[in-house]
Amino acid sequence: MAKSVLIFGGSRGIGAATALYFAEKGYKVAITYNNSGYAAKIMQQNITANGGEFIVIPCDVTSSVQVDSAIKQAVSAFGRLDAVINNAGIAEQKLITDVTDTDWQKMLNTNLSGVFYACRSAAKVMVNQKNGSIVNVSSIWGITGASCEVAYSATKAGIIGLTKALAKELGPSNVRVNCVAPGVIDTEMNSNLDIGALADLADETPLGRIGTTEEVAKAIYYLANDADFITGQVLSPNGGIVV
Ligand code: NAI
Repeated sequence: MAKSVLIFGGSRGIGAATALYFAEKGYKVAITYNNSGYAAKIMQQNITANGGEFIVIPCDVTSSVQVDSAIKQAVSAFGRLDAVINNAGIAEQKLITDVTDTDWQKMLNTNLSGVFYACRSAAKVMVNQKNGSIVNVSSIWGITGASCEVAYSATKAGIIGLTKALAKELGPSNVRVNCVAPGVIDTEMNSNLDIGALADLADETPLGRIGTTEEVAKAIYYLANDADFITGQVLSPNGGIVV
């Protein structure tokens, strides 16, 4: 029987590449979208036209009700849920003195509470199944911290702590929990960086370039599908910029 995956924030960037990669590997795929409903529907048309099973679910990850509902809809469509990928996230560059209470709460709610809600909801399903794998998307800035990204770095570090703790809690139920911590990847999230800033980041990277969404998708797939004896780990596809 084909395995199934739910990818939060799957309509663009790393999430879309991950959805396509899992679909190519024969998974039944559910993605959530927040604003990019049109892009999600186009992906659905393309994949179902090639015989794949693909559903799209609107979901704002800052709402635990919507996250629970997304998990329920995926389980009801596929009968079970083998993997959940917590990819939805936002970034913002500001001096800490410019970060408002609203900015801070929005970052926490989206990047950290969203992952918490999805892990809590997925845990209920996967513990029942006695099987499953969760992959959370952190960042190298969650490992090292980034200047002018205090809020973002804090949420991404929080995801690493959450992942390690949950791996211990769910391991006895045969549920694995890992995270990826990508380096700089070519997506809309970095569209506010000018060409010079991106070139500097590429220069600082031992492999001499920034990464692609497909490279992160492969790392996520490895952790979700192949890494049978790996849990509580951080895999960082980053070109060597953080070792
Ligand atoms: P992106 O901006 O293209 O994608 C972000 C996704 O999160 C979108 O699908 C968006 O709809 C979704 N999202 C944002 N707020 C949401 C909300 N409230 N509810 C539901 N979905 C929401 O950027 P990218 O680069 O593909 O980011 C994906 C993940 O990778 C994020 O968690 C990001 O922090 C992480 N990351 C990205 C890196 C990069 O250099 N692009 C590096 C390290 C981590």
